[in-house]
Amino acid sequence: MNKTEKHIAVVGGTFDPIHGGHLRLGQGALGALHLDEVWFMPSGSNNYRSLTGLRAEKYHREAMVRLAIEGQDKFRFSDWECAQPGSTYTSKTFAQLNATFPEVVWYYVVGADTLNSLKYWEEPELICNSVILLVAGRQEQVSSDSLQQTAGALRERYGADIRFIPWNDYPISSTKVRRDHGTGSLEPGLVPPEVLDYMKRHHLYRPLQELSDRELLERAGAGPLEYECYERLTTLLTPRRVKHCLGVMHMAMLLADAYRNVPLEKARLAGLLHDCGRTENNAHNALAHAPAGARMAKQLFGVSDEEILSAIRWHTTGRPGMTELEKIVYVADYIEPFRSHMVNLDKARRIAYTDLNHAVSFMAENTFRYLESREEDIDPVTLEVMEYYKVQKEFL
Ligand SMILES: [Fe+2]
Ligand SMILES: [Fe+2]
Repeated sequence: MNKTEKHIAVVGGTFDPIHGGHLRLGQGALGALHLDEVWFMPSGSNNYRSLTGLRAEKYHREAMVRLAIEGQDKFRFSDWECAQPGSTYTSKTFAQLNATFPEVVWYYVVGADTLNSLKYWEEPELICNSVILLVAGRQEQVSSDSLQQTAGALRERYGADIRFIPWNDYPISSTKVRRDHGTGSLEPGLVPPEVLDYMKRHHLYRPLQELSDRELLERAGAGPLEYECYERLTTLLTPRRVKHCLGVMHMAMLLADAYRNVPLEKARLAGLLHDCGRTENNAHNALAHAPAGARMAKQLFGVSDEEILSAIRWHTTGRPGMTELEKIVYVADYIEPFRSHMVNLDKARRIAYTDLNHAVSFMAENTFRYLESREEDIDPVTLEVMEYYKVQKEFL
């Protein structure tokens, strides 16, 4: 072993949530080799299903991994994949890690099942050339003819360096944790207590539709400021409108989490307050409540952040040249999880996760067609937005 080299193993996955089996994989790697560090690296995938509440938001998945490995020698948290917008591929991740840390020898810890499916992954050759594969499996599993044949084929075809580490089955998977936690039948001891406590505090893996307003705020990690705003909102708006505000808060955070270009706190407050102007006075004037809301957010709710005020100001019509936060609130207003009757809602939700500018254009167009069909007033800005964002593409 070269003295200047560092040896680091990566344990990857969605960690939705992290459990004792993941930690045992890391410990298994440490026990089998002289490693300097083990990195726990949550994947960057943005679960479309976190719209329902049954999957954890990316920021919650990350927080749980941090909690699970806290204080454990040689275990490190890595946001390498999470910090990137859009989907990430293992092959690209390791190619980038090799380029960034040329002094590191990288190992990738996978289960025996993963080795069998590796040839179907994106660019398996690149993976095999970038890392040493540490395959964890039970003795009879790793010595089975089929797994040895798979390993042999990968070695021959791609020059893969594959090593096996002993492993005993762990009696739980993330899927089972989610399901058993939801039904209250989760066996104790299989998920680190800090993670379990976090799941409970934030009401993870429960349908959003079943959460009370308070629980929705707790899910979003709200602090005193948001609770105060919520209390005031309940005096101004109908309960249904308040629920919608909580839905936009949740959705705005999901989008900020996906694109990673706006702080979550800003998305949370802007989403929560976006309709604060939709009081009895403005209830029937769809266009007036946005500028009125921006004024109220400043004067009544004490918001001084111009970006947040501007996101509230433009959330109904949008405008050409919107800031990222403005786009996020505009889009979140359309697709928040409690919406069910918006035009082309499913398609709008899919687009929102892949291309924010396209989503703005798509939603402006739907709004335009809808208002046109009802012969209602259309703000000319809606048309401008539709055209402007057709040419602005931002692919993830
Ligand atoms: Fe509104
Ligand atoms: Fe709204």
